[in-house]
Amino acid sequence: MAIRRIMELGQDDVLRKRARRVEKFDDRLAALLTDMAETMEAGDGAGLAAPQVGVLKRCCVVNVGEGLIELVNPEIVSREGEMTVIEACLSVPGRAGRVVRPERVTVRAQDRFGNPFEIHGEGMLAVCLCHEIDHLDGVLYVDRMIEDCTEELREKGAIS
Ligand code: NI
Repeated sequence: MAIRRIMELGQDDVLRKRARRVEKFDDRLAALLTDMAETMEAGDGAGLAAPQVGVLKRCCVVNVGEGLIELVNPEIVSREGEMTVIEACLSVPGRAGRVVRPERVTVRAQDRFGNPFEIHGEGMLAVCLCHEIDHLDGVLYVDRMIEDCTEELREKGAIS
């Protein structure tokens, strides 16, 4: 397995394209998901979507500290509440911004074998699911940002 190169905003328009639905649940998909989890971990991220490693497939991985979740063809089927959070993205290094996200979401997806499942996310997990699913439609948090927090966090030493 391997750590893949992360595409950065402004370098590659793959981040701006709509990813295609996964139809084949094969070894290639399994390898992609495994590599994505490894790449996310190496980058100290809480989530990573396939377009970020240059692959236009609708899949992502998430880990907010409660274990790895792999999502193939994920869709948000319900959202509740609203909260303001600070987000960052491995494809937008060294920056952060405030975004309004739902407090709770329900996501329907498939696992790496094609089995359907549903996941309920609250707080950080809800944020992360929304952020990663946005990536599959070519949307980055900077598009939804209500305030850039880069300087604020830099002063606090939270980002370098
Ligand atoms: Ni991101």
